[in-house]
Amino acid sequence: MSRVADLRAQLQATASLPADRPQGLSGAFYTDPDYFDWECRSVLRSGWYCLGRTDEIPEPGDYFTARILNEPLIVVRGDDCRIRVLSNVCRHRGMPLAEGSGNTRRFVCPYHAWAYGRDGALLRAARMDNAGFDAKSCRLPGFASTHWRGFVYCNLNPEAAPFIDAAPDLDTLVAPYQGETFRVVHSAEEAWRTNWKCLVENFMEGYHLSVVHPVTLHGYTPTGLAKKAASGPGFTSYNANYPLDIPPRGTGAPGLSDAERKRSTLFAVFPAQVASQASSLLVSLSIFPLAVDLIRVKWTMSVFGDDLDEATVSARIALWEQVNAEDRDKLEKLQQALGSDHARAGPLAGDDYEGTIRDFHLWLATLDRAAGGSG
Ligand code: FES
Ligand SMILES: [Fe+2]
Repeated sequence: MSRVADLRAQLQATASLPADRPQGLSGAFYTDPDYFDWECRSVLRSGWYCLGRTDEIPEPGDYFTARILNEPLIVVRGDDCRIRVLSNVCRHRGMPLAEGSGNTRRFVCPYHAWAYGRDGALLRAARMDNAGFDAKSCRLPGFASTHWRGFVYCNLNPEAAPFIDAAPDLDTLVAPYQGETFRVVHSAEEAWRTNWKCLVENFMEGYHLSVVHPVTLHGYTPTGLAKKAASGPGFTSYNANYPLDIPPRGTGAPGLSDAERKRSTLFAVFPAQVASQASSLLVSLSIFPLAVDLIRVKWTMSVFGDDLDEATVSARIALWEQVNAEDRDKLEKLQQALGSDHARAGPLAGDDYEGTIRDFHLWLATLDRAAGGSG
């Protein structure tokens, strides 16, 4: 049996364990380059990726760039105010058209100056009067995109299942917070030396909170108060409850219950978005797998109305920078050790602490079965 076939069989065996006897995955799932290639084909290429927030690009012509696997992308608001996700690859000889973010009337290729409109149509290609070249039918390919609660999503696979099919119960869970009205106050990108699944699992389990974040998070979201919440096809969640005696952290949307105000709901939209929704603060990490041991992480922080003053927003950004640094340090060390022959599958803690990891593995196993084939 090939190594990938062996890991696929192990994944199915893990998924069929009884719910009260959950196990993690062995190190090879996180370190084997051939298994990562298989995941690209079976899971990652057809996933809905969160690219950021709609209000990062509020005006026509506002854009930012992104990359899913091997596909460079431009996320741009058009003259019709619609957000489109276009290929960031020039139709002439393949140069990237844009870098970073900004506002533009047209995307002019830095190589030979072909110019494209905000909808991807080719507007100008100098000295291209060869027979057979029709500028009018030449345009940048577009990708399927949608938005939900203020997040922009994209899927590379034109035949992928619609986004909303993945998570209607998740919407019920976070709808009271009115995430779509939150305004973005911070966005940053980093490269982390870890496997993409390590960050999904790390963000989604409350077991590590008090150990890894004793100063930054333990006071507000101690491990002992973590409670598993809804899960379903394509998502999982848990509530990081606050101790009763902490001061309120902003009132948030009208109609939120007391309990909703006194917790952060951490959710994952598989494969690669993890987020924390609280009454006044919404933090989301978009994970972009680049290699078996490398991801790009884009994280955004958004706030509800004017709930938090400027000083508090700055303090929250600094806090989350610290939290992310604490997690990154652990995950980069973990990645090294997962290469060991002794990185065998270990037991997972109960539902409230690591049940979300089991949900993730069940989802991976379902997609693996659906992909069929020999890997
Ligand atoms: S590669 Fe873009 S104009 Fe030549
Ligand atoms: Fe953490």
